Amino acid sequence: MAFILAVTGSAVGLGNIWKFPYIAGQNGGGAFVLVYLLCVFVIGMPVMMSEILIGRRGRRNPVATMALLGEEEGHARHWQWVGAMGVIAGICILSYYSVVAGWTLAYVQKSLSGAFAGASPAEVRGIFEGFSGNLLQSSLVHTLFMGVTILVVARGVERGLEQAVKFMVPALLILMLVLLAYAINSGGFGAGLTFMFDPDWEALTIGAVLAAMGQAFFTLSLGMGALMAYGAYLPQETSITGTSAAVILADTVFAVLAGLVIFPLVFANGLNPSEGPGLVFGTLPLAFGRMQGGAFFAAVFFVLLSFAAWTSAIGLMEPAVAWLVERYHRTRAQAAVMVGGLIWLLGFGTVLSFNVLSQFRFLRGTVYDNVDWFTSNVMLPLGGMLITVFAAWVMCRNSSADELGGAGKLYRLWRFLARFVAPLAIAFIFLRTVGVLG
Ligand code: TRP
Repeated sequence: MAFILAVTGSAVGLGNIWKFPYIAGQNGGGAFVLVYLLCVFVIGMPVMMSEILIGRRGRRNPVATMALLGEEEGHARHWQWVGAMGVIAGICILSYYSVVAGWTLAYVQKSLSGAFAGASPAEVRGIFEGFSGNLLQSSLVHTLFMGVTILVVARGVERGLEQAVKFMVPALLILMLVLLAYAINSGGFGAGLTFMFDPDWEALTIGAVLAAMGQAFFTLSLGMGALMAYGAYLPQETSITGTSAAVILADTVFAVLAGLVIFPLVFANGLNPSEGPGLVFGTLPLAFGRMQGGAFFAAVFFVLLSFAAWTSAIGLMEPAVAWLVERYHRTRAQAAVMVGGLIWLLGFGTVLSFNVLSQFRFLRGTVYDNVDWFTSNVMLPLGGMLITVFAAWVMCRNSSADELGGAGKLYRLWRFLARFVAPLAIAFIFLRTVGVLG
């Protein structure tokens, strides 16, 4: 149970409520959402099981686990580079995740101040742009969020985390349902539903398919060794299959709910679904602003979302911290300060992307756009593919069957998905993206 809670805490976060709606909006909804769901179940499930089983077998940080198992299973230590890539991906992801979590924290105060009461769409948007556009304010909240995260990781997290998740996930669910009730009556629900589930396959680009796959990895915390690091603490008798299924289900519920709340608000207010990272911050306050007791609900909502972000942030730091502790014999506190300090510094790339450097664009857009695109759409799927190949091709049958509770029907299904479907699908999408397969 503790393990399910920890993994759910890492999975449910800004990825579901902030990122999923805005990425779905940028990629045209409908077809994107269905590809995303397909990726979650067909690729996400076998990758998650592979990652956890490797973690439990290695019982070390991701780098050491991959090195050890690589050797043990008769091959090479080079597999440690998969772990190393995960450490780097976690650091890069948290660098921007912390900035967005900082916005969330700031929105607690904004909610309480009554800034959203009866505000128009333009005013709500102005509040977001004013805040993210303010270098000093967004630096402060990013610093605050990283500070708290470092503190908790430094002191050894596990106990507090469980309690937080046990309370936060159901409470967040209830508030999402309150928002859903509002969205159903907002006048835009039909349009929102159509946008989310009516696919226009013609308009689906390979870029959108890649983004859907990247989002699936991101939201499930896959492909960077985080679940490997968590798996290292998993008791031998816990079912990896059952845990993975439960986490994936919970995570999907939150993402779909977020879409069902946000898109109706977008259409009821004549907003643009593809406006980008500000989407959630420009829509949810509209609903709260018109609700009885909205200031209170809004504040509670953003507190819970900050909690959700924080339980994910801990998971994002874990591979790097565990690696420093085990490899260089640092104390947990030293490792947390070093890793967290680096992440804090890198975070200014994202802070500045929304103000001073907002016009500085290259490749995919701002500095933030590039870090996000490269980590989610390249590093995580690549990491996930290698992890799955390792679990299903390199590790011998006995080892994986041992971890997955014997070689029954479910085991054979996992092995088929992990050997063929997941790696080939990921490779196919990559190759299409770079134009190799036309
Ligand atoms: N899944 C998290 C979210 O949806 C983000 C995330 C990505 C993450 N990779 C992770 C969290 C690794 C913890 C560990 O918000």
